[in-house]
Amino acid sequence: MSTIAVVPGSFDPVTLGHLDVIERAAGIFDEVHVVVVHNPAKEAMLPIAQRVSLIEQAVADRALPDSILVTSWSVGLLVDYCSDVGASVLVKGVRSQVDVAYETPMAIVNRNLAGVETIFMLPDPAHAHVSSSLVRQVSALGGDVAPYVPRAVAEYLDTVDQD
Ligand code: PNS
Repeated sequence: MSTIAVVPGSFDPVTLGHLDVIERAAGIFDEVHVVVVHNPAKEAMLPIAQRVSLIEQAVADRALPDSILVTSWSVGLLVDYCSDVGASVLVKGVRSQVDVAYETPMAIVNRNLAGVETIFMLPDPAHAHVSSSLVRQVSALGGDVAPYVPRAVAEYLDTVDQD
């Protein structure tokens, strides 16, 4: 039986750390669905459709496996998406104890709600300090975000900054 894993997140924007987790998840699971979800606790910078498009471009630029599908979900619980597509696993990157503390309650709730398991993946140390919020801040203040994000994101943020 094939196993579908979901890599969910705000991805506002996708970073090299996210891409590392997506690529490594694709090496483990038969299908990986990268699902962009609005997080009401965070003020968004990019529209959801733009975030999906940037992840798609990054996946294509890296020639990642075509077992990776990029989509968004806005009509209910994340586990409802998992049920709809038959996904049994969520994959989350955790950079620190802070991330583990943030992710643990969600992992327990998602398992209680629908039996969906969460696997925590450690980032490549090269990306352990990278976050979307850091990228948003550096970009907003005119700094160079190229070391932290896929090329498509850096180019997109450059054009937005020039507007
Ligand atoms: O990248 P983020 O912002 O840390 O991702 C958090 C996200 C969007 C994955 C999380 O907020 C989520 O799963 N939202 C969907 C709504 C949901 O199912 N909530 C209940 C279980 S946590």
